[in-house]
Amino acid sequence: MTNKQTILKKISTNSEVVGIIGLGYVGLPLAVNFAEAGVHVIGFEKSKEKVDLVNSGKNYIGDIRDAVLREVVVEKLTLEATTDATRMKECDALIIAVPTPLDKFRKPDMSYIESACIDIGKNMKSGTFISLESTTYPTTTEDLMLPLIMEYSKQNPYFVSPLGEMSEGQRGGKHGTDFWLAYSPERVDPGNKDFHTRNTPKVMGAMTEDGMEIGEAIYLKAIDNIHKVSSPRVAEMVKILENTYRLVNISLINELALLSGKMDINIWEVIEAAKTKPFGFQAFYPGPGIGGHCIPLDPFYLEHIAKKYDFDLSMIHTAGSINMRMPHYMYIKIATALNSQKKAVNGSKVLFLGVAYKPNINDARESPALEIMDITAHKGGIIVYHDPYISKIKTNAGREYQTVELTKEELRSADIVVLTTNHKDFDVEFIQKHSKLIVDLRNMIEEENEKVVKL
Ligand SMILES: NC(=O)c1ccc[n+]([C@@H]2O[C@H](COP(=O)([O-])OP(=O)(O)OC[C@H]3O[C@@H](n4cnc5c(N)ncnc54)[C@H](O)[C@@H]3O)[C@@H](O)[C@H]2O)c1
Repeated sequence: MTNKQTILKKISTNSEVVGIIGLGYVGLPLAVNFAEAGVHVIGFEKSKEKVDLVNSGKNYIGDIRDAVLREVVVEKLTLEATTDATRMKECDALIIAVPTPLDKFRKPDMSYIESACIDIGKNMKSGTFISLESTTYPTTTEDLMLPLIMEYSKQNPYFVSPLGEMSEGQRGGKHGTDFWLAYSPERVDPGNKDFHTRNTPKVMGAMTEDGMEIGEAIYLKAIDNIHKVSSPRVAEMVKILENTYRLVNISLINELALLSGKMDINIWEVIEAAKTKPFGFQAFYPGPGIGGHCIPLDPFYLEHIAKKYDFDLSMIHTAGSINMRMPHYMYIKIATALNSQKKAVNGSKVLFLGVAYKPNINDARESPALEIMDITAHKGGIIVYHDPYISKIKTNAGREYQTVELTKEELRSADIVVLTTNHKDFDVEFIQKHSKLIVDLRNMIEEENEKVVKL
């Protein structure tokens, strides 16, 4: 049997093993989905702490129900986690969901993908389907991953002739017969109760038709709908399009919100009215800036590759700049509100409600709240925060804080309360009743009055 026939047979008889590399916000829910469908999943994770948590059935991701994780780990025995990359040779498919941050010069840090590719090259068996899900710039799969996997597969015993030594040039796995590469971006929307990993359609672009056929057969075990595109680079651009579309529209509404504030126009009322148009308008809402692991980072990925093509992404660049300035504008709102009470930021107690980048989740990565806290602290404000989902945080400037309880006393003792995240848990009436002064950056309070300043 060829490698392709072997893997398709395994999939059709439910005996395939799927490896998920990186068990974070993306990887763990995907692993649980496959495991729930009865597929044997091995999760590869560098953090020993996460491996131990998964193997004892303890959940650390908001979107997974604790009971479901326990069931697949302890009862069904379909999910296990390991730090041991050599076990990749047990897998028929390897799906990569490792971080893709930016370095301190805002350039893509591809080291996590590179390290995953090195592990795969060295350890995969012949006949492995490989899919990248991490957000990245178009061409990553074909131009970065493929050569790396091929290079490191030269150190892999699977690809050395069993009949004896082969010459250096002949060693290594061949794409299309020994392994197949694809890109299939994750679209998870943390905290979304309606759309989750299984019922969100998945886009996939493989390098060959065989890779597409195998990839589709594998993913259909965990995802209801696969939308096939002609190449990995198309799939990579799809993800960037989705996220930059949000970035540009959020920036537009943020800019209009700032102008409306100056002109004494309520932007929220404007949006509600515009939404009555039944075609050609989609509502985006202003806020203190963008956050999370995707929207703030993606434009920089695209910029990185656009430079190679001598192309200037002026629209995306402008949108990114508007959003990067939002925390500073939010600080001005805080300072102006305090000033109206004859108070300075310096020495005032500023209570931030919510540090997560969006409601009802425990993720503060790239959260604009952290930047606003840093600017306010830098000007001498005394920072306190409450977030029911996040017990402690480290800001971009390295300041560390722990959440306080949301009590009457805490609200009363603050010179100003800043509503930074619209968590459903916040009792707006209670907050309003006991606060001296509020800056509402999320339209949580309908009426603006002498105590409430809105974005
Ligand atoms: N979080 C989201 O909402 C979201 C949505 C869509 C896409 N994405 C993209 O998915 C990717 C993963 O994001 P995330 O939020 O799950 O990140 P995360 O930091 O929550 O998880 C990544 C995990 O990978 C592990 N890891 C790193 N290198 C590894 C390696 N070589 N081998 C094994 N494990 C390794 C880390 O320890 C971590 O636990 C990113 O590219 C992100 O942009 C994220």
